Amino acid sequence: MQDSGNPRGSAPKSFRIKSFGCQMNVYDGERMGELLGAHGLSPAAEGEAADLVVLNTCHIRERAAEKVYSDIGRLRKNEGGAPMIAVAGCVAQAEGEEIFARAPSVGVVVGPQSYHRLPELVARAAAGERASDTDMPADAKFAALPERRRVGPSAFLTVQEGCDKFCTYCVVPYTRGAEISRPFAALLAEAERLVVGGACEITLLGQNVNAWTGEDAKGRAVGLDGLIRALAALPDLARIRYTTSHPNDVTEGLIEAHGEVAKLMPFLHLPVQSGSDRVLKAMNRSHTVDSYLRLLERFRAARPDIAVSGDFIVGFPGESEAEFEDTLRLVDAVGYAQAYSFKYSPRPGTPAATMDLQVAPEVMDERLQRLQAALNRGQIAFNRASVGRRCTVLVERAGKRPGQWLGKSPWLQSVHFAGPGAARVRIGDLVEVELAAAGPNSLEGRVLERVAA
Ligand code: 5AD
Ligand code: SF4
Repeated sequence: MQDSGNPRGSAPKSFRIKSFGCQMNVYDGERMGELLGAHGLSPAAEGEAADLVVLNTCHIRERAAEKVYSDIGRLRKNEGGAPMIAVAGCVAQAEGEEIFARAPSVGVVVGPQSYHRLPELVARAAAGERASDTDMPADAKFAALPERRRVGPSAFLTVQEGCDKFCTYCVVPYTRGAEISRPFAALLAEAERLVVGGACEITLLGQNVNAWTGEDAKGRAVGLDGLIRALAALPDLARIRYTTSHPNDVTEGLIEAHGEVAKLMPFLHLPVQSGSDRVLKAMNRSHTVDSYLRLLERFRAARPDIAVSGDFIVGFPGESEAEFEDTLRLVDAVGYAQAYSFKYSPRPGTPAATMDLQVAPEVMDERLQRLQAALNRGQIAFNRASVGRRCTVLVERAGKRPGQWLGKSPWLQSVHFAGPGAARVRIGDLVEVELAAAGPNSLEGRVLERVAA
């Protein structure tokens, strides 16, 4: 037994969770908070020191681990000197017990598949041990977590985790493990509790969310579209979204659901990564530019107003200027409503990290700027094309100006709105709004009427 990094030496009473990276980490952070709450800890108020700080980390890009170590140093100052520190998430999975060696003040290291054991690990650290668990058991975690209670109007629900695709640049198959699907009945039960707890929108999460498979109540094999249809039958659930989908896991049923299930929002996050077939092959993406474009055509045939979003990587090893220009052409051809774009970042242990012809950082910088300019043009064009439309907005919070509110359109645009009906609006309402003006990142609207609570 080693000396732990918990100088207070007593069981923590308050906690703070800092989540980095993807939406799945946001979901995991919420569940860890609920779990700690069920074990008698309370969230530290804003501005107050916490006895336990959980860093829920991301390992997907550049120096994420380095950032964790510098955060630990800062935390010790900001949180009144000596909180117990728990490192959770994908850096914990990737670095394991090495973290104790590099950051002696850390008391707990817990991977993304074992955080249901957090309270026990915290108790061990409080007793003076260094406590870690980075096992990857399939699906033990969810069954061990407490039931969900109060949530905001828009809630996340992890339905699938892990990845078997092994894109050559990506650490996810190593940090999150093999693809697993949570059982249908457990998901329906969690969705029902989310709705009772206040959610009227649920976003289904998974690294490859459309790889989800299960058996419905009658024992029939169903895919994500079957789950979506079952959730759509929950009367008080108004909106369903899902992310992130993989082109190779798209089924006809999912495309049809976009045309048939009114509660399924017209939004599709379908990463492509590159517009060059040679680069896609080197990335092991197992789709081509053409097969991707044909998929989008089918989604658009089912739901003509669907907003398309994507992920892009510039500067993958060996990417030439001409191949990068193919990506720019693809961006113009698709007309993305929004997108995420990244410089390629070599991740230790992935095949691409040791490939020849790594692209120089200044070339990546320049390509990223050009790509982002093209994506911004697309986003502005998409937002401008929405002006004059009427749509429902799910109200998420009060805006900065008095009488102003902020919410999301069906196409996931941020909408600020005010107007004569604004005084009656509450958080969680669905209101009918006329979209009146567009900026690059949000729209201005005028509230017409309240649709539902
Ligand atoms: N470098 C840059 N971007 C990456 N992504 C995943 N791995 C890397 C990497 N090594 C991006 C991909 C993925 C998104 C979640 O992060 O675009 O879709
Ligand atoms: Fe990573 Fe590729 Fe799996 Fe997405 S599909 S998580 S990019 S390996």
